Amino acid sequence: MKTATALKVEGVARRFGATRILNGVDLSVASGERHAVIGPNGAGKSTLFNVIGGALRPDAGKVWLEGADVTGRSAHRLARAGLGRSFQTTRVFSRLTVFENLRCAVWCGVAAARKGSRVLEPLSKCALWWRHSREVDERARRVLVDLDLEHAAFVLAGALEYGAQRRLDLGIALASGARTLLLDEPTAGMNRDEAARVLAWLRGASVGKTLLVIEHDMDAVFALADRVSVLVQGRVIATGTPAEIRADERVREAYLGVPLGKEAP
Ligand SMILES: Nc1ncnc2c1ncn2[C@@H]1O[C@H](COP(=O)(O)OP(=O)(O)OP(=O)(O)O)[C@@H](O)[C@H]1O
Ligand SMILES: [Mg+2]
Repeated sequence: MKTATALKVEGVARRFGATRILNGVDLSVASGERHAVIGPNGAGKSTLFNVIGGALRPDAGKVWLEGADVTGRSAHRLARAGLGRSFQTTRVFSRLTVFENLRCAVWCGVAAARKGSRVLEPLSKCALWWRHSREVDERARRVLVDLDLEHAAFVLAGALEYGAQRRLDLGIALASGARTLLLDEPTAGMNRDEAARVLAWLRGASVGKTLLVIEHDMDAVFALADRVSVLVQGRVIATGTPAEIRADERVREAYLGVPLGKEAP
């Protein structure tokens, strides 16, 4: 069922040992919205993504994806339901080439989008491959060009320099065709020019998709996001448009009086 809300998080709590990391997080992301999560180091942003993305079970609370309760579902079942993600630390198949990485991502999206893909018989897999292999190549090539990685198509992903690996990681998340994407600090470690270029690409490539993005660079947040949620000590203390968040006193306090736009990375 299609709903106006792509992703909803209600009362999500999670502790590690005796330490409470998430203390009842509420978050709602509309279909097609670009929503940023900001907050100080250690606030629980990546932990929240791990709960939403199926890597961690919450101790309490619910996660809804396109109207379905997906709390505690595994990452691969979530991928089949249309959720993709990229990580704070780059995860690519280092022994495959850049192009092979992207083809895998596109192919997984094609296979997952097909009804009954869960138990694809070898024969129907072959038929599917035959029918779609050109399209898969073409889509992978487009992402390659968009990411400015054409020259490195046949380089092993593990041999790429850091910024290029981050771009590839992001490309894999987008190439998979997921409708909702969790992106954990997509521009981490990039220089300003590179980050600006990648964000410009991301804006175009994500049209029609729902994005939940953790980002430390405030210029990037304000340029990319329709709405922003601020996570502090495992709780969302404010949600609003970038302008509303910029003007919010509680947010300024949470950043210890540092003016927004000047946070340490
Ligand atoms: N698997 C784990 N086991 C124990 N503690 C953990 C685990 N994962 C995260 N933590 C702790 O939970 C807290 C929140 O971590 P998290 O990575 O979610 O923060 P974050 O908001 O993403 O921070 P950053 O901005 O530095 O990426 C930290 O104190 C971290 O040490
Ligand atoms: Mg993090």
